[in-house]
Amino acid sequence: MPRESDSAEDRALMRAVRRYLETVNMQALEETAEYRSPLGELLSEHLGTDAGACSVVDEQLPDHRLVDADLALEELRAASDGRLIGVTGGNQRDHIGLAELVSAQYVRIAPGPVDYVVRATGPTTTRRVVSFGVWLLRHEGRPLAVLQRAASPHTGRAQAALEVLGADPDAVSDFLDRVRELMIARSVLRGQVLSFVATEYGADAGATLLPRSAVAASDIVLAPGVLGSIVDHVVGIGEHRDALLAAGRHLKRGILLYGPPGTGKTLTVRHLLSQTEGTTAVLLTGASIRFISAAAEIARTFPPALVVLEDIDLVAMERHSSPQPLLFEVLDALDGLEGDADIAFVMTTNRVEVLERALADRPGRVDLAVELPRPAPAERRTLFERYALGLPFSRDALHAAADQAEGTTGSFAKELMRDAVLRAAVENRAPTDADLADALETLRDSRNALTRRLLGARTEPSPEDLDDGSSAGWTAYVP
Ligand SMILES: Nc1ncnc2c1ncn2[C@@H]1O[C@H](COP(=O)(O)OP(=O)(O)OP(=O)(O)O)[C@@H](O)[C@H]1O
Ligand SMILES: [Mg+2]
Repeated sequence: MPRESDSAEDRALMRAVRRYLETVNMQALEETAEYRSPLGELLSEHLGTDAGACSVVDEQLPDHRLVDADLALEELRAASDGRLIGVTGGNQRDHIGLAELVSAQYVRIAPGPVDYVVRATGPTTTRRVVSFGVWLLRHEGRPLAVLQRAASPHTGRAQAALEVLGADPDAVSDFLDRVRELMIARSVLRGQVLSFVATEYGADAGATLLPRSAVAASDIVLAPGVLGSIVDHVVGIGEHRDALLAAGRHLKRGILLYGPPGTGKTLTVRHLLSQTEGTTAVLLTGASIRFISAAAEIARTFPPALVVLEDIDLVAMERHSSPQPLLFEVLDALDGLEGDADIAFVMTTNRVEVLERALADRPGRVDLAVELPRPAPAERRTLFERYALGLPFSRDALHAAADQAEGTTGSFAKELMRDAVLRAAVENRAPTDADLADALETLRDSRNALTRRLLGARTEPSPEDLDDGSSAGWTAYVP
């Protein structure tokens, strides 16, 4: 309150001081709102607007697509003459998103060196990929900042991500469409053979790119017509895709290969891979079958594709990400794929009875089931000849051995020849017919019942022999 003694002059001064203080106060407030982390400063400069006021769109990616994202962003960066920066600021940065990285709260978050990780781009090639870095680029003239981060399960990030910051939300979504397009067009996964490895954190998987196997049809000994029917179904349908589609036929197919251990199921799969050069293949075995949805996604994105589920009986009844058994997840994944997609599913098992009920309950997913039984006498002779190639055994001795080895499989023949060679090798001489006979006797010896079983030989009637009727049931699926 002005006192009476105050002169008019004093009062005017006081009013001026009050106005001045108000201005100071306002200014200070505005400055706090604008204050950003050093990274935020740089991003604001690039965007031409306050980075803290822009919204962020977060695009999660399976970690095996990080290479594709890196390729796409590098291309978009180069096209717009942009640049890539890294981020320093300790572990904090791993726990927060881009919106927080630019805010005033994180004063230590600053531009710094880019973090990279080396990832496979093929069975024998790699690429240095950004695992934590920010792309400063333009899309259709509009500035954007994109944080690229690899998955880091130990900090709770199960997936890789792109976080896009821009003033105009439409530009951001346009840009992300373009990134997705390029990630498919430039993908390193297309046409590759991939398998998944579980990480120690369980939930996420890393993809491994494998060389395509080379197994000729002549390397596989099966009853006449068996291999042909499998190859026709998997490869033949793909080869005639245009004609089939034109006639309104579906391309998606599911094949089940079943039979005792060591009869050539895996070998047949390897032959299928060598016959489908250029096809994207995903191989899941046992425990890794839980990555079925990732495999189905890859197949859907990069057709033509082949998805192989090996030894599915091992995990069929386990439960992972969903309350239903894994086998049903697999069948749902099969069902979820478009019928006109050129995708083949191949499952193998040596305990078909575990699957039979579930497959019968959901018909149509598997449209061809082929049994790979223990070889008949004629095939056994051929197998023995095959695995004795280059060894000095007489034809008669080989046939005699094959005839005595009733109930054994291809893997037994292979092991038998190695055993015979080894016998001679320890005595520093070439193997003879007698070594073959001795080796056969040892492997057939009752003391080696377990070895024999492990090699796939039949010992006593097993439940699956008594079950033979169930195999007949499979012919119902043969079109
Ligand atoms: N039909 C066959 N023709 C040629 N070689 C065979 C045959 N069956 C088995 N073999 C030989 O035995 C090895 C093991 O066979 P394979 O791995 O294909 O058996 P599988 O049927 O997949 O057995 P499992 O059910 O135990 O997985 C093959 O790599 C091959 O050397
Ligand atoms: Mg196998």
